[in-house]
Amino acid sequence: MASNITFHEGTVSSDERAQLIQQKGATIWLTGLSASGKSTIACALEQHLLHLRKYTYRLDGDNVRFGLNKDLGFDEKSRNENIRRIGEVSRLFADSCCLTITAFISPYRVDREFARQIHEKAGLPFVEVFVDAPLSVVEQRDPKGLYKKARAGEIKDFTGISAPYETPETPEIHLNTAITDVAESVRIITQYLVSHGYIP
Ligand code: PPS
Repeated sequence: MASNITFHEGTVSSDERAQLIQQKGATIWLTGLSASGKSTIACALEQHLLHLRKYTYRLDGDNVRFGLNKDLGFDEKSRNENIRRIGEVSRLFADSCCLTITAFISPYRVDREFARQIHEKAGLPFVEVFVDAPLSVVEQRDPKGLYKKARAGEIKDFTGISAPYETPETPEIHLNTAITDVAESVRIITQYLVSHGYIP
């Protein structure tokens, strides 16, 4: 961290901001293998929440790697940094009262835990959603042909094949997308947000 820096508090408290905007922020953190359904669920959830007139924004792994994180690859250190930055960005979005939906593989527990900790420290809800589908299923889906390339040795450090995915131990929500469709996944997440008072 740089030296000679001072945190500058604003004049509007978090509660005041939430009251004025009439919405509390939260981060809905989707994690799972490539092709597990993270991006599809994130898009459908974003659309649903926006139609409920909620201030919502989606951050997606592939997309963020075109801009903010275009300097990062897929080795362990790069993934750590990818998720550290997204953890920080999603916390800022949530602090602005946004329902922030993130869709990143985020394969390491320690990185997801970091994202959770910085939210909880700031008093912001962090909802970890395990978008779960067995490797055999995602490999069969293979919408981008990446598993095929990884099996052929054309992509190194590919999650589930040649790089680890550490499954969440106690996610707030566990979706099995081999048997749960997108609409039902959106319903389950929305129901969780309502039942916890994150949206009225
Ligand atoms: S991570 O692990 O959280 O840093 O990854 P993320 O930022 O979500 O990026 C995942 C998308 O990158 C593409 N891709 C790879 N994924 C996994 N391993 C390797 N080596 C790799 N190379 C490219 C892939 O399209 C991922 O998108 P999804 O939507 O998960 O399929």
